[in-house]
Amino acid sequence: MGKDKLRRFELMKDFANVFQPTISEPFPLKGKWRQEYFKNDNPIILELGCGKGEYSVGLANHFPNKNFIGVDIKGARMFIGAKEALANKMDNVAFIRSKIDFICDYFDNNEVDEIWLTFSDPQPKKPRKRLSSPIFIERYRAILKREGIIHMKTDSDILFEYTEEQIHEQNYTCLELTWDLYGSLPETIDPQTREIFHIKTHYEKLFTAKGSVIKYCKFKLN
Ligand SMILES: C[S@@+](CC[C@H](N)C(=O)[O-])C[C@H]1O[C@@H](n2cnc3c(N)ncnc32)[C@H](O)[C@@H]1O
Repeated sequence: MGKDKLRRFELMKDFANVFQPTISEPFPLKGKWRQEYFKNDNPIILELGCGKGEYSVGLANHFPNKNFIGVDIKGARMFIGAKEALANKMDNVAFIRSKIDFICDYFDNNEVDEIWLTFSDPQPKKPRKRLSSPIFIERYRAILKREGIIHMKTDSDILFEYTEEQIHEQNYTCLELTWDLYGSLPETIDPQTREIFHIKTHYEKLFTAKGSVIKYCKFKLN
C-alpha cells in the first residue's frame, strides 16, 4: 500500500464523520442515525459507491435540511469528501467505509428515504454484482421507507439498459428515465431533482469530458 494511502487511513481513524464497522460487532447507529448522530428528524439519503464523496458533500451543501451518508469500500477516496465536510463543519453528511453488501447491518427497516447509485461499476460479466441487481435491490428494500426512491446516474449503456429491464421485469415504479440527461432533460422532471443536476461526481466529470452521454433514472420499489 502506498504511503499516502496509509497516511489517509491513519488520519481517517480520528474523523468523527467516518465509520469503519467491523463485521464482528453490531453497528451502534443502526436504527438510531437520526436521534444519535444527526440529532434531527430530517430525511436520510445514501450515496452507494460514493468514491471521493464529493456528490454526497455537494448534495449536503445544497440541502442543509437533509442528511447524507456516502458508502464505499475505498477509504483513501472517501478521505477527500470526509475531510472537506469536516473542514466546513458540515453536520449533515457522514461516511461509512464498507462493502455495500452489508448495508442492512447499518440501517434499520424504514430508516432511509432515498438512495443514489452514482456511476456504479457496470460489472459487464457479473450482473449479480451490479448495484441494481435484485440481490442489492432486496437489501435496499429492507432499509428504504415504503415510498423510498432510488436514483441512478451512469455513463454505462450496459448498466442502464440492465436497470431499465429490471424496472420493467420487477414491476418497480419508474418515476423518471432519460438516456441523455443533459441533452434531453424531460419536461416532467420534478423541480427538486432538476435543481441538483449541476452537482457532478468525480467520474461524471471524467466521463462528460470524454464525451460520454449521461443517463438518469429514478424509481420506487413496490
Ligand atoms: C466508478 S466508481 C464511482 C465513484 C463515484 N460515485 C463517482 O461517481 O465519482 C465506483 C465506486 O463504487 C465502489 N464500489 C463498487 N462496488 C462496491 C461494493 N460492493 N461495496 C462498496 N463499494 C463499492 C468502488 O469502490 C468505487 O469507488
